[in-house]
Amino acid sequence: MDDTPQRFPDALPPLRSAALEAGFTMSCDERTGSLLAVLAAARPGGRILELGTGIGEGTAWLLSGMDQGSHLISVELDSAVQAVARAQLGSDPRVTFVTGDGGDWLEAYDGEPFDLVFADTWPGKFTHLDRALSLVTRGGTYLIDDLLPQSGWPEDHHDSVSQLLADLDARQDFHSVRLTWSTGLLMAVRTKS
Ligand SMILES: C[S@@+](CC[C@H](N)C(=O)[O-])C[C@H]1O[C@@H](n2cnc3c(N)ncnc32)[C@H](O)[C@@H]1O
Repeated sequence: MDDTPQRFPDALPPLRSAALEAGFTMSCDERTGSLLAVLAAARPGGRILELGTGIGEGTAWLLSGMDQGSHLISVELDSAVQAVARAQLGSDPRVTFVTGDGGDWLEAYDGEPFDLVFADTWPGKFTHLDRALSLVTRGGTYLIDDLLPQSGWPEDHHDSVSQLLADLDARQDFHSVRLTWSTGLLMAVRTKS
């Protein structure tokens, strides 16, 4: 079976061109993107959080799966990078872009919890993990990628990833699955409040 995604968000080609031009290489893999779209589609009227907008490729995948009643908040530290996402996707009323540190945002956020959290930066993954997980609804999904070894990882990153996987597997309030697919994923679903 060829698992190359067959459907792509309309905004993906211009976002990819912008990423190439800007030298931004951290966008999610297209297989991860296709899974994001499916997970978003599984949540009609869903509340979705992306930590780390980047240039907006993950955002575009999420929006492509979301129905009209769903809403996405996407948080990014680098305003220049996020400006590309804002320009391409900002007219969609289903998305709110926040520029700022994801950790600060997680600590300050006091709104409704989320049905899907894509934690794609340090806060919510390697820091502020408990806080990010606390914002997942019962039955809601927490997804992380980039878990398979990559060239260019900092020296201690392998240990950080191993610890993160162990911490998530040890949680009694989430049921997790590890996927050695795409860049290496872990998907966790909240089973207890
Ligand atoms: C892996 S990229 C995100 C890719 C994007 N989610 C996608 O799927 O295309 C990680 C992003 O996190 C941003 N970032 C780094 N530190 C951050 C922080 N403390 N708070 C929020 N964003 C941060 C980086 O600027 C970078 O754009």
